[in-house]
Amino acid sequence: MIVIFCDSVIDHRTVEPDYEEEWESAIKAGFNTSLISYEELTKGNILGALRLIKPINNKEEAIYRGWMLTPKQYKLLYKGLLDKNVHLINSPTEYNHCHYLPNSYSRIESITPKSNWTTNLNEASILELTNEFGDNSIIVKDFVKSEKHNWDDACFIPNASDPIKVKSVVDKFIELRGASINEGLVFRQFEELEFLIEHSMSGMPLTKEFRIFFHNDEVVKVFDYWDEGEYGETKPELNKFKEIAKSIDSNFFTMDVAKKKNGDWIIMELGDGQVSGLPDNAVMSEFYFLLKEKIK
Ligand SMILES: Nc1ncnc2c1ncn2[C@@H]1O[C@H](COP(=O)(O)OP(=O)(O)O)[C@@H](O)[C@H]1O
Ligand SMILES: [Mg+2]
Repeated sequence: MIVIFCDSVIDHRTVEPDYEEEWESAIKAGFNTSLISYEELTKGNILGALRLIKPINNKEEAIYRGWMLTPKQYKLLYKGLLDKNVHLINSPTEYNHCHYLPNSYSRIESITPKSNWTTNLNEASILELTNEFGDNSIIVKDFVKSEKHNWDDACFIPNASDPIKVKSVVDKFIELRGASINEGLVFRQFEELEFLIEHSMSGMPLTKEFRIFFHNDEVVKVFDYWDEGEYGETKPELNKFKEIAKSIDSNFFTMDVAKKKNGDWIIMELGDGQVSGLPDNAVMSEFYFLLKEKIK
C-alpha cells in the first residue's frame, strides 16, 4: 500500500510541509510513500503531476492524503494513477459519494439534519428551499464546505422564513466562497448541540463533535473534532454509526458526528478519508499505525 502526498511548492522532491508529520508517520507504520504535484494536477497537467510516480508491473493499492480535490481533479488523478498500475482506494464515484452531501444524503437521512439543495443560485429557487424550514433556524453551505468561521454573516440563519436575512447570509456565503464554490447550495436545519466553547479566533460556537475514520466499514480511530474546549467524558455511541457506515459506498471515509443538547447523536457530515484533515490533537503515528493494522 502506497500513501501518496502532495509535494512542496518550493522543493518538488519533498512533501508539502503541512503533511510532513503524516508522511513520516506513514513511513514509520510501514507504508510506502510517493509524491504528486497538486499544482500540476489542478492545472490539469496529469503527466506533470505524476512525474515522480513510476509505473509498476504488479497492481498496487494506494491512498491519497492531501488537499481536497474536485470530482474532476480526483477522476484525473485516479485514471492517471491507474495507467501506472496504482489503484486508489476509492473510485471516482466512491469519492463523490462522501464528498458531496447530496450524494450520500439518502443513506444518512434518518440521523442527519434535514437538508435540501439546489444548483440554481437565483433568489426564487433559494427562497423556495428555505421556506421548507418554516420558522426554524438553518445553516447554509455548498455541496462540500461551509463558512463556519463567518458564522453570523455567512453560515447561520436564525429564522428561515426571514427573506432579508436569508438573502444577506447567502450573498455573503457566495461572495466568500467565490470561484471555489462547490456545485451549489445546501440548506440544513439547525440542531441545538452540546456547547463546548467559543472558537478563540472566529468566535464560532464550538460543540461536542467527533471525527470517525472508517476503513471498510470498520472504525480506525475516533478523534475529538475541535482542539479547544473540554470534552469531558463524552464519547460517541458507535454502534448506530457503524450500522450506517455499512450503507456508505466508500472504502475509506470520515463521519463527523455531534451530540445534541437533548442527548441524541447526529451525523454532521461525511468526507472522503483521503482529504479529511486529522485534527491538531491527533497523534499521527498512532493513526497511521492503526490504519496499517486495518489494511494489512
Ligand atoms: N445543522 C446544523 N446544526 C447545528 N450546527 C451545525 C449544523 N451544520 C453545521 N453546524 C456547525 O457548523 C460546523 C460546520 O459545518 P459542516 O457541515 O461540518 O461544514 P464544513 O464542511 O465547513 O466543516 C459544524 O462542525 C457544526 O459545528
Ligand atoms: Mg465539518
